[in-house]
Amino acid sequence: MIHALHYLKDSLSAEIGLHGPLVPLEPEKTFAQKIMDLVDTQHPVHQIRSLDALQEYVQSSILVPIDAERTNAVFGEGNPQADIMLIGEAPGADEDRQGRPFVGRAGQLLDKMIAAIDLSRSEIFIANILKSRPPGNRDPNPDEIAAHLPVLYRQMSLIQPKFILCLGRIASQTLLGSRAPLGKLRGQAHAYHGSTLLSSYHPAALLRNPNWKRPAWEDLKLLRQLYSAP
Ligand code: URA
Repeated sequence: MIHALHYLKDSLSAEIGLHGPLVPLEPEKTFAQKIMDLVDTQHPVHQIRSLDALQEYVQSSILVPIDAERTNAVFGEGNPQADIMLIGEAPGADEDRQGRPFVGRAGQLLDKMIAAIDLSRSEIFIANILKSRPPGNRDPNPDEIAAHLPVLYRQMSLIQPKFILCLGRIASQTLLGSRAPLGKLRGQAHAYHGSTLLSSYHPAALLRNPNWKRPAWEDLKLLRQLYSAP
């Protein structure tokens, strides 16, 4: 009898392609879990449960020397449940003065870009890789990026956007973990831990080089099209 049962189990297993004991399937991790897996398990941001508390943490922490030199931390702003997040590089002089992202000349162009695809600042969330201004608007250095990135990851895990638009090379290469030039990263949708990431030119770069406005417009239209898709 026992022998017959073993035979039945073996033949059924073979028929449905099972070999060995049944192992329960792990549920797929959420976007928020996958993003927080990128942050060291001991990092304090794991204990922070709201955007307000995270902003408080940013304002009261000196993570790298430029944090001690800022007038204001620029945490980011917008809809805490936004489907779309825009990620820039770092605050400039105007942003440092006001404590808000993209309020200078590049920000005014960004407002027009957002409006051109029928969105507004209040619908989306705008943040930067760095929350403090690098002096003289130099590029962020790798230590600064490494120190501030956990904050951005926590922002993303709390907001859970469906789409992320990186503005410029630094944001695009940082989030995609790529050294490819922006020209290669833009113009396509990248799968990003369960959300969709697009890259485009930084508005400050568009002010310097109007030839990039056309491809930037293509990127914005792609974002709008994916966002509007049923
Ligand atoms: N440039 C950025 O990348 N971010 C800002 O907030 C302002 C200018």
